[in-house]
Amino acid sequence: MAYVIEARGLHKSFNGVKAVNGIDLRINEGEIFGLLGPNGAGKTTTLSMLATLIKPTKGSALVNGFDIRTQAHRVRGSIGFVFQDPSSDDLLTGRENLYLHALMYGVDMRDINRKMDDVLKLVDLTGVQHRRMKTYSGGMRRRLELARGLLHEPKVLFLDEPTLGLDPQTREHLWKYIKRLSTEKRVTIIVTTHYMDEADLLCDRVAIIDHGKIVALDTPANLKKRVGGDVVRISARSPNLRALRKLRYIKKIKTDGGLLTLTVDEAERHLQEILKVVGEVRSVESHFPTLNDVFLHFTGSEIRETEAEGGYFERMMHSGNR
Ligand SMILES: Nc1ncnc2c1ncn2[C@@H]1O[C@H](COP(=O)(O)OP(=O)(O)O)[C@@H](O)[C@H]1O
Ligand SMILES: [Mg+2]
Repeated sequence: MAYVIEARGLHKSFNGVKAVNGIDLRINEGEIFGLLGPNGAGKTTTLSMLATLIKPTKGSALVNGFDIRTQAHRVRGSIGFVFQDPSSDDLLTGRENLYLHALMYGVDMRDINRKMDDVLKLVDLTGVQHRRMKTYSGGMRRRLELARGLLHEPKVLFLDEPTLGLDPQTREHLWKYIKRLSTEKRVTIIVTTHYMDEADLLCDRVAIIDHGKIVALDTPANLKKRVGGDVVRISARSPNLRALRKLRYIKKIKTDGGLLTLTVDEAERHLQEILKVVGEVRSVESHFPTLNDVFLHFTGSEIRETEAEGGYFERMMHSGNR
């Protein structure tokens, strides 16, 4: 089967700075495919090249069978994108904003009313379509943007950090709509995110991207398997690493000051012994691998979410204490 997106060796440099450094992708029809990585990893740049908003420095890609370098116009006609430019007019209603967008982007106007009805229904905004946008919540705005990206019935939809800045509940709510597009419209969706839970719960497959390169690509479940065991985090005063290294079921030991991250076979069975051996323990926490652990496994560092939100790991560590 032909791929909906096939990218080979995509590179992009900005004044000699390598933003994207050799990306290969093959994305199937109907997939929700995630590009997961920290800020500055090259996610938006990759998406922008595929959506023909910028040109690659090197490499090529086919989107819906069209070449992004030589058939940009055809590519654009076959995709929709929701990027981070909230360009809706607050004084217009939701429906008027859709209409304006359709005019500006050359959407086939023959049955524009049916199309607007259709996309509004899909994102559950039918009831508020005649309200001015200034009365919309953040989540409603994102949903209208999704609807807008779908007006010309694209086969592929690009979403750049669609839930950035939304509260957790609204984010989950939005995932439901994104999934609905994929199942009801069979749209192939490429979504970027730096939220691990989003990649995990929303995406069929995830490419983890760091410094402009894909470091791992698989289903979330398989990625987590590749960590190779459960994750045990221990904060200890001068931990006894020599003793730990003798324990066969500890597959990997990473130290960061007094904080140890262990990859352990069947942590539940062995935790008692580990704690006995390690020395004076301040805190301990054990879990099945998350995509954060996957990222750590493949890059040696954690994805840091924006400082204001606090890191995923920090949240996890503290959530039990509240
Ligand atoms: N127009 C640009 N000019 C110069 N540097 C850029 C430009 N766009 C992105 N970059 C740089 O390229 C790198 C990747 O950026 P980006 O693709 O936006 O990352 P992400 O979306 O993963 O946060 C960053 O170091 C960023 O500063
Ligand atoms: Mg970005």
